[in-house]
Amino acid sequence: MVASRLAKRLQYYGLSSYAEYYQLIKQPENKDEFQVMIDVLTTNETYFFREPNHFEFFRDQILTTWQGDHFKVWSAACSSGEEAYSLAIVLAETLRNKKWEVLGSDISTRVLDKAINGVYLLDRLEHMDHKWLEKYCLRGVRSQEGYFCISDTLRNHVHFEQINLVKHLPPALKQKFDVIFLRNVLIYFDQSTKKTVLNHLFETLKPGGYFFISHSESLHQINDHLIMIKPSIFKKPLQST
Ligand SMILES: C[S@@+](CC[C@H](N)C(=O)[O-])C[C@H]1O[C@@H](n2cnc3c(N)ncnc32)[C@H](O)[C@@H]1O
Repeated sequence: MVASRLAKRLQYYGLSSYAEYYQLIKQPENKDEFQVMIDVLTTNETYFFREPNHFEFFRDQILTTWQGDHFKVWSAACSSGEEAYSLAIVLAETLRNKKWEVLGSDISTRVLDKAINGVYLLDRLEHMDHKWLEKYCLRGVRSQEGYFCISDTLRNHVHFEQINLVKHLPPALKQKFDVIFLRNVLIYFDQSTKKTVLNHLFETLKPGGYFFISHSESLHQINDHLIMIKPSIFKKPLQST
């Protein structure tokens, strides 16, 4: 997979081996190509309201009983933003006039540009309730026919940043989030990288905060602290050991 995805980059530079390409991306002056390599290597599949049970749990078990004054959610590895905007719709519907915000982050700038743009093909919407489409999305006309754009009602609460989850995270994120979605990304890491990423994210979760992974993933043998609520939903204890 890596070889076939990088083959076009070798062709672009007229290189005959992966070793030459490796030398090229190691040079500091080629940092733009380094980013292109990351964009090419990452798998970015996502869609609105993917794994709908998670959004129901988020609304019914977390938001409806929440008592604080500023709710913060992180869609870590958000790809092109569908997960972050899906969370924003549930927050807007449930918390209404209370303060809330969503951070979406990814390592790939190519998908982050799409997320910031907030323009999607209409046929990507099979899991979105039509009343939300009317309320939170603007249908494109003329040259934008077939697309929709996320409305400012949501965009004003959502921002996107490039964050590599494997590296140390900015100290400003420490114990910041009430909820973290880390879905469909751990699957790409080896065991020790999974553990590193989990430890980083654990630090950014508030005590009592919730942590979601995909139904197809597990924290088996990498989780020391989170309490399992359901197979893909975890909670940080109020007092950490
Ligand atoms: C399959 S998408 C998942 C999108 C969304 N969370 C979902 O479940 O639909 C996986 C994303 O993880 C991102 N990713 C991979 N490695 C990463 C890293 N080290 N730090 C941050 N994001 C990463 C990829 O760029 C990709 O967009």
